[in-house]
Parts: sequence; C-alpha cells; structure tokens
Amino acid sequence: MAQQNNNKRKRIWSLIKNLPAYHARKSFLQALASSEVVLVVGETGCGKTTQLPQQALDVGYRSIVTTQPRRVAAISVTERVCLERGVTLGSQIGYVVRFDDKTSSETQLRYVTDGVLLREAITDPDLSRYDLIFVDEAHERSLQTDIVLGVVKRALTNRRGSLKVVVMSAFLDTDKFRSFFSSFDLSILEMEGRLYPIDIFYTKTPVEDYVEAAVVACLQIHFEESFPGDILVFLTGQEEIESAARMIKERFDNYCSYLEKNFLPCSENKHTTLYHPLRVYPLFAAMSPDAQRAALKPCRNQFRKAILATNIAETSITIPGIKYVVDCGFSKQRVASSMKCLDALRVSPISQAQALQRAGRAGRECPGKCFRLYTKDDFDKLSIHPVPEILVSDLVSVTLQLMAMGMENPFKLELLDNPRTESFQYALEVLLSIGALDSSMKLNAIGKQMAFFPLSPMLSRSLLESITLNCSSSMLALCSILSTESVFQLSSQIRESAFQAWNKFISSLGDHFTLLQVFQSYLSIPEHERIQWCKEHYLNYRSLATANNIYCQLSQLLQQQKYSSSFMSRLYEEESEQDRLGRCLVAGFFRQSVRIGSNCQLYTLFEPLQVDIHPSSVLHRRLSSKEEGYLIYHELIWTTKPYIRTVMRVKEEWLLQHGGNCFQLES
Ligand code: CDP
Ligand code: MG
Repeated sequence: MAQQNNNKRKRIWSLIKNLPAYHARKSFLQALASSEVVLVVGETGCGKTTQLPQQALDVGYRSIVTTQPRRVAAISVTERVCLERGVTLGSQIGYVVRFDDKTSSETQLRYVTDGVLLREAITDPDLSRYDLIFVDEAHERSLQTDIVLGVVKRALTNRRGSLKVVVMSAFLDTDKFRSFFSSFDLSILEMEGRLYPIDIFYTKTPVEDYVEAAVVACLQIHFEESFPGDILVFLTGQEEIESAARMIKERFDNYCSYLEKNFLPCSENKHTTLYHPLRVYPLFAAMSPDAQRAALKPCRNQFRKAILATNIAETSITIPGIKYVVDCGFSKQRVASSMKCLDALRVSPISQAQALQRAGRAGRECPGKCFRLYTKDDFDKLSIHPVPEILVSDLVSVTLQLMAMGMENPFKLELLDNPRTESFQYALEVLLSIGALDSSMKLNAIGKQMAFFPLSPMLSRSLLESITLNCSSSMLALCSILSTESVFQLSSQIRESAFQAWNKFISSLGDHFTLLQVFQSYLSIPEHERIQWCKEHYLNYRSLATANNIYCQLSQLLQQQKYSSSFMSRLYEEESEQDRLGRCLVAGFFRQSVRIGSNCQLYTLFEPLQVDIHPSSVLHRRLSSKEEGYLIYHELIWTTKPYIRTVMRVKEEWLLQHGGNCFQLES
C-alpha cells in the first residue's frame, strides 16, 4: 500500500514538473513579491489553479483564498491539490461552496465559489481574514466574478500593504484589466501554454438538430477514429445531455448486438475484439460530486470515454485523455432582454473565444480533432468575446449583497464594465417592493436579514414571512427542496410506473407543495431505509439527501437569528398551514405571478409576456379550460419558447396583500 502511494506520488510529481506553472514558479513569486496585483494568463491546464496558490503557500502566505465560478470546479480542484500535497481534505487545504464547508481552523488555502466570497464580504467587507486572494477564470466575466473583482479592488484600496491579489484567466483583455487596476503596482505574467495541433472540421451545411448531430458525430468518431482517445461533447444543459447519453447508449448497444450476432473474430486472433467498449459520462453542474468524479477519472485505455458536458468543461475543469471534441456551438447564457424583469437563461450561440477554448480541450496531450456542428460561415459570424454577464443580468441579488456590505450606493462600486443604470434602478425597485429597503432607499432590518440567508432575496423574503406567520419549519423544508434539482428521476422505460409512484405526492396546488410532500415523506422514513424508499419511488436519493443537509444548515442559521416574539403575528392564525405557506411564497415571489386567461393562456403580470407551463410541472396540461386565477413560478426558462417551471396556484387575495402597491388585478 505504502509502495502504491509512493508510486502514485511519483507519477503526480512527474506531471507537475511538466506544467508551465511549475516552470514559471520563480517569475510568479517575484511578481507577487514586487506587486500588489498580478495578472496571470495561461492556457487551460497549464497549472494556474492548482499550482500557483500552492507556491504562495510554500513561501509563507498563511491565509489564501482562490475563487471559482463553479462549485464543481472548486471541489475537484481542492481534491486534486490535497492529493498532490498528500494532506486530508479540510486540514491545511479545503473548500467552501454553498451549503458545503470543508475547512477547519487549520485551513490556510481555501477554494471557494465567487458567491461564497461575496457572502463573507457581508460580515467582513475588506476581506481582512485573507492576505492573498486569487480571482480565477476572470475571462468568463460571470456576474459574480465581476462583482468579486470590484469588492477586491475596494479591499485593496482600504488595506494598502496588507493584501495581494492575483487575477487568473485562460485568455484576457489585458488592457482592460491593466487600466482597472491602474492605481496599484501591477505585473503581468504570461505562461507558455503547450497545445498540440488540432484539426478543425465544420459541417458543410447548418445542422437542424445539434443533439442528434452530436450523437452521430460521437458514434462516428468512436468507430472511425484511432483508439485510444476520449471524446468530449459540448452541449448546453442537463436535459440535452441526458437525452444524448440515452441515444448514444441505445444506438451503440444495438450496433454491438448486431455485430455479435453476425460476426465472429478470427480464431487465431483471440484477442481481437469486434469493437472497443464505449462509456458515456454526463458532466454538468447539478450532478453529484461522485458522479462528476467518475467522468474525470482516467480509464487507462480499457474503453473509450464519451463525456457529454456543458460549458463547465470549457476552461474550469481539466479532463485528461481527451483527443476529440464535438462542439454544438451553443451554451445557456443570460441574454439581454428588452423586458427588464425577465432574467432568463437562454440557449445562445457561444463566442469565438469560447469555440477556441472548446477546441483546445482536444490538444492537451497529443494532436487532436475538433468537430464543430456549424458551418465556417456561422463561426465567422460569432462575436469575438463573450458578453460580460453583468450587462445582461438581473442585479437584485448582488445589489442586496453590496448594500449589506455597507455600500449605501452600490452604483459607486468600480467595476470592469458598468451595468446599465436602469439595471441597478430596477434592482432597487424590486428590493423596495419586497420590503428590503425603507422609503429613503436604505437597507432596513428585513433587508439585512434577507442578505443573511444564502438564498435568493425572494426566497429569503418568503422564509422571513414564515417566521411571522408561524410556519417556518415547513418553509425551511420548502426552501431546501427548492434549492436542489432533479428530485424526480424519469427515463423512458419507467415512465408509467414512476408516474404511479409519484401520484400520492401530487398536490393540486402545484409543484411547490408536491415537492414539499415528497421531502416531508422522505424525512419521515427511518434513515437506513431511505435509499430503498427512493428507489421504489423513482426519486433521486442524492437530491433528497442534499436537501436534508441544506435543511439542517438553514435551521441552524435561523436559530442563530434570535427573532423577538414581536416578530410573530397572530394574523391568519385560523388559516391552514398550506394557506399561510402560500401567503409566504407570494410575499417573496409576487413579482413572478401569472394570470390565467381564457383557454388557459398565461400572461405574466409584470410584463405582457405569454408563457407556458413547463412539461415537468405537475400543473402541465392540468388547468381546466374554464379556469381563472393566478399562478406564481419559481423559474422562467427559455428553450423554444418561454416556460415557467415550478409553478403553483395562488389566491388573488394573497397577491393583493403583497403586490397591491405594484399592480392592479383585473376583475
Ligand atoms: O487552472 P489551469 O487550467 O491552468 O490548470 P489546473 O486546473 O491547475 O490543472 C493543471 C493540471 O493538473 C492539469 O493539466 C491536469 O493534468 C491536472 N489536474 C488533474 O489531474 N485533476 C484535476 N482535478 C485538476 C488538475
Ligand atoms: Mg483553472
């Protein structure tokens, strides 16, 4: 065993010694010693995230934090660094992501998501517990990373001399960053990336269905291109990935049984196989860490891996063994909407910079190939850089956070790109309407409480309301289950039986109470029987276990806040708990309400947008043709058209109670 570990460490060491970041050690440390801000630019996989923070640790920095846009990357990178140093996770090195803290008082280097660092800044706006901050993946220009950069710059100004900052990215508009940090001593370090040549192929004509095209491309590569060499397919989201995975498996299995039925390998050549095995691994943010790990594990050439990923695999995660890339040309992005309150993720074309990054995944270890599922003409039409998310996002959440950090006027924060003034104004309007601000637009006690919970402002608002209406325990359960994904496990083979098993959970009011019913039933099952119970009911055990974990953490947070009894109200005491919960949800989400018009046509109340109920909802096709009334939704998603997901029926009276100042309901 000791020998095995030794060999493993040796292997890892030889890998590290080959990384550009290892060779740049001296220049990096010099830059760090002589400047307040260091910009590091280097190709994905060159060792920025794993090596540079360790190098700083080795020369005596004692409180280092590295931010990541995604939790998956934060977790996998931390595990890698612990392995490299031979330390246990959570000792010297650890990670913190929302609802999962693997650090201890010993921890000197922590990897966190941007969101976690922003939460820390609420109680410690100058981030004074850190002496060195790495802001990673700055090129992605995600909303939270941009805000982190603003907060970090402010901390640098306030703490001259006691804080250093390293900004890292795979490609970067250096001039922009240089002028952003122009009042500080700044060094730029460009690391040599080594990329093998990559052959790029385009389709001759535009493809109609890129999921189908990706499936065909993947199988074709497997049968026609040289082995070994794994395939990385970029798609846009969980649903696409899961359906592509099913299609690849089915077609591959069919082909294999055809071969086995009709052919025999030549007897002298016993070791010749008819085909190499192919295994499909999904990789997206909502997956469990175990499942993600499986996708990243090397397969030692025993089979070929096809990894179906979202843009998570573009720059933030290194996957060894990839030789072929299939790029659908799209990703889910926030897009500018003329309607200000409809912050929705939409499947949109990627930028040229992203297409290059995707192709680059094929040339890390040897020459590779990239198959783009679009034409060369379409590539030329793509924008060069991704649009900074801050220009197109809803700023409600970050505005609340910035105000909770003590910035009375969040417009004043210096940012790489300034969002439209209307976006901030709109955010203030929303915060005012859900009761977070007083009439002079300052954060009030409710607003401060809202920022305290790691939930969206709307969900926090609902939670606070539930304390008043004495139903906080169920509301906590609801918040927890709404913070997890894919509770129901559906596949085409088990459709009928799954629907039967779920029947007893379904609430005629809609998805919120259905999910709550599932979660409360889960909690009532003895712990050792839960896995089996989930199997029998076609429910995702991991999601429910995660919800349980979130539930415990939120309960602790709630207990820390000692609410005085004057907070409680005797109003609506005679109403059922379900009605009170409904009122609480409306207190947070009345802006996301929808009117049921004639023939079940649905219109959002705040903007004249016609929407449909997402097929995954229990209310999908369940509204009767004569039904009138109102719904609220948790999420608006935009695929072929705007869909509302996680939907519930609400009473007009509740909407009037909370949104009465903001709109008039048609009678
Ligand atoms: O941040 P950057 O993209 O520059 O690279 P990194 O994430 O620090 O990864 C450096 C190297 O470590 C990669 O080339 C991989 O060989 C290895 N690595 C790994 O094997 N497993 C991980 N989870 C992360 C990195
Ligand atoms: Mg990295």
